[in-house]
Amino acid sequence: MPRIKSTALLVAESGADREGHGLARTMGLFQLICFGVGAIVGTGIFVGLSDSVAQAGPAVVVSFVLAAITCVFTAFSFAELGGAIPVSGSSYSFAYAGLGETTAFLVGWCLLLEYGVSISAVAVGWSQYVNELLHSLVGWQLPVALSAGPGDGGLVNLPAVIVIALGCVLLVRGVRESAGATAAMAAIKLVILLVFCAIGFSAFKDGNLTPFAPAGLGGIGAGTTAAFFSYIGFDAITTAGEEARNPRRDIPVAILVCMGVVTLLYCAVALAATGAVGAGEVGGRPAALSYVVNLVTGSAVGGGVIAFGAVVAIASVVLAVMYGQTRILMSMSRDGLIPRVFERVSPRTATPVAGTLIVAAVFAVPAAFASLDAAVGLCTIGTLAIMAVVNVAVIALRRREPGLPRTFRVPLYPALPVLGIGFCLYLMYETGWTAWIQFAVFLLAGLAAYAAYGRRRSRLVRAAGDVTPDAAAREPQEV
Ligand code: ALA
Repeated sequence: MPRIKSTALLVAESGADREGHGLARTMGLFQLICFGVGAIVGTGIFVGLSDSVAQAGPAVVVSFVLAAITCVFTAFSFAELGGAIPVSGSSYSFAYAGLGETTAFLVGWCLLLEYGVSISAVAVGWSQYVNELLHSLVGWQLPVALSAGPGDGGLVNLPAVIVIALGCVLLVRGVRESAGATAAMAAIKLVILLVFCAIGFSAFKDGNLTPFAPAGLGGIGAGTTAAFFSYIGFDAITTAGEEARNPRRDIPVAILVCMGVVTLLYCAVALAATGAVGAGEVGGRPAALSYVVNLVTGSAVGGGVIAFGAVVAIASVVLAVMYGQTRILMSMSRDGLIPRVFERVSPRTATPVAGTLIVAAVFAVPAAFASLDAAVGLCTIGTLAIMAVVNVAVIALRRREPGLPRTFRVPLYPALPVLGIGFCLYLMYETGWTAWIQFAVFLLAGLAAYAAYGRRRSRLVRAAGDVTPDAAAREPQEV
């Protein structure tokens, strides 16, 4: 029988519906939207766009639409579950309530790919634009040996480590303190991308879009997988369930607003870049958006401004994703599935200080030494697997807890979650066998960790709401 934790118990244990439960409840709708934009818009559009264009050509805009559709189907499911189960565990907690502890542990394990590995991948992407910015400001840049890992011809990626350390310091100080920085960073990156679109469209030529899909449907599919990375992060909004002032109302709205804004922006950027200079100039080029602007304006100043925007944008993704990772680990720790150090909240800062320091230290290592491509592939397949599970969890929970108060319901149910599962599986298929093998090994390691530690230490001992004395001692609340 699966070990399932009822939604009421999840919420009661987290104290999410109570004041004074440890984390500070400081985030309103605006902050949640800024946080979402902060978590989504970064390396994927500023760096990864050139990979998608290399695969799909000008049809990259179709790739971005297909990747967005995959995410939007799943965003509806996240919105329903985020409103109904406002706890910091996000998809891990949704899987616990819908599908049981083993699946939940594996989802939590895969979240190390979606959040942890993407912290590293995003930090690696940051380096490219730091160098571009240094180049346009002072005409000098860090040598490859100090700005790339061994896989990319260097020794150690110092900027990647530095951005993770900065994110760690901000997060340790507190959510309220980092909210201002998050909002400012979200605004800067939106403005910079809009400026990019204006410059790109000013030089737009129809002829640059032909041939539209040089590599056919296969190219569009491969471009979609690459584009998908740029949407990762919208689900991080649900990790703020215990710090949002009105999570049941605001979390679904924030997710859907962010996805709408980001999808429109990405399609516009992709069209502006390829329409301005042609796919051949964009595909596979480092710091591609700066390059496009330099080419169009004929001066290095515009490219420098874009590089500044990218540096800010990507840093904010590191900040938001690191935040999400620490909150998910907190939930897993509270359930006994991982060591308790991750659930400790500092009374002084109201943040999980030890968990944040551990996350930063651990993921700074791949950031220093890994290549972007390797990290992105693994992160993508892990995230797609999680998204497929969340769509299944929506269906499972509608059957298991039909009376659960839901502030938002997936429209066209069950068609949308089922389509979401289908799209996720298709994109997983497109990631290629290397990613599949790495993913299979990673999952087996996760199962071993669950058998060796999580299953034995779990605070949930029996199915369907029967709990250990430890959990039962905390008074469950009506939701
Ligand atoms: N979507 C995030 C980025 O593009 C991971 O940086």
